[in-house]
Amino acid sequence: MRKQVVIVGAGPSGLLLGRLLDLAGIDNIVLERQTQDYVLARIRAGILEQTTVDLIHRAGADTRLNAEGIRHHAMHLAFDYKSIAIGLSEHTNGKVVTAYGQTEVTRDLCDVRDAEGSATVYEASNVEINDFDGDSPYVTYVKDGTTHRVDCDLIAGCDGYHGVCRQSVPLSAITTYEKIYPFGWLGLLSDTKPVAKEVVYANTARGFALCSMRSMTRSRYYIQCDVDDKVENWSDDAFWDEFRLRLPPEMAEALETGPSIEKSIAPLRSFVAEPMRFGRLMLAGDAAHVVPPTGAKGLNLAASDIHYMYDAILGFLEDHDAAALDEYSRRALDRVWKTERFSWWLTNLTHRFNDDPFEQRMKEAELAYVTTSDAGRQMVAENYVGLPL
Ligand code: APR
Ligand code: PHB
Repeated sequence: MRKQVVIVGAGPSGLLLGRLLDLAGIDNIVLERQTQDYVLARIRAGILEQTTVDLIHRAGADTRLNAEGIRHHAMHLAFDYKSIAIGLSEHTNGKVVTAYGQTEVTRDLCDVRDAEGSATVYEASNVEINDFDGDSPYVTYVKDGTTHRVDCDLIAGCDGYHGVCRQSVPLSAITTYEKIYPFGWLGLLSDTKPVAKEVVYANTARGFALCSMRSMTRSRYYIQCDVDDKVENWSDDAFWDEFRLRLPPEMAEALETGPSIEKSIAPLRSFVAEPMRFGRLMLAGDAAHVVPPTGAKGLNLAASDIHYMYDAILGFLEDHDAAALDEYSRRALDRVWKTERFSWWLTNLTHRFNDDPFEQRMKEAELAYVTTSDAGRQMVAENYVGLPL
């Protein structure tokens, strides 16, 4: 088989790229290790930047997002049990973020891809990428016991942090940067009315807490927990009791509780691999970088990579511009590092790392500065709504 582009991974990065390439008439195939049901069951963050919403619109997968997405004009930072609003639109010429689950984004992209009959192979095992440092790359995979080979012009590595694409690059060609945080997030999803209209990030003496939502009747809440903690240690009641203790009193009072639909613990890490292109292989999304979830940048950064990768693919295949591939890594990494900085900064500001009182006073002083200075508020707002592409 021959395709212009082989996309490894059917997460949001791979599906968004596949759809944009379909619309541009570029022949592509998506190879995914898991089943479609597995991919659609993963629960992740749910705050979309305007540029991500625009890309989903370009992909023609925005019908449900337009109907169900909730636009937030502010985000909130709570310290010392007091919540301070940071206006988003007022500092960014009217930009907002939209609350809409990543699981739903993936489902909508799957639906348009399936409706168009585009080539997606689920349960493709042993994916191997070959000769991407030459002019004739190819990818092999096994499906139902048979090995298949796809010759192509370009390979898009959209296969997440544990994928095969980044791991196929010789160690000497890649530099990685990593920070592991000494805590995790325990998350709970429930069919309860969200306690706040917009997202709240709270730094408390008991640790970080986050209030978010999926709809006006479904809440998503998190608390900072020990990195080695186990979800079995947390009954729903134990979660609600601890969560309530980390909220400002008026919110604690108003909190509606109910049975969990999902409960899980995730570790936090920052990770970047440089460069993001190796010959005919380009990496996007979690395959190239990971952000801690504070700020909800994971999906948004994957979407901006795809925006740049799409330009590079069209430049290379349609305009025969070899420099377009080089430009990909430079353009994507510029935004990746700035977004890594913001996610790291917001994580540091809002979490308790140790009991060092000096560090806590520094965080309080920083919060006081960013919330009272126009420049500070603008820094938070313009990063939260997403930096320009
Ligand atoms: N072969 C084929 N598919 C693979 C392989 C492989 N060897 N390894 C991984 N995959 C698939 C995974 O099963 C997954 O469905 O690649 C997909 C990668 O999807 P994500 O991990 O969702 O990564 P990405 O699409 O870059 O999305 C980035 O979404 O996952 C969140 O936290 C992430 O928010 C970030 C954003
Ligand atoms: C979420 O809704 O799951 C969410 C929101 C904001 C974050 C992280 C996660 O910063």
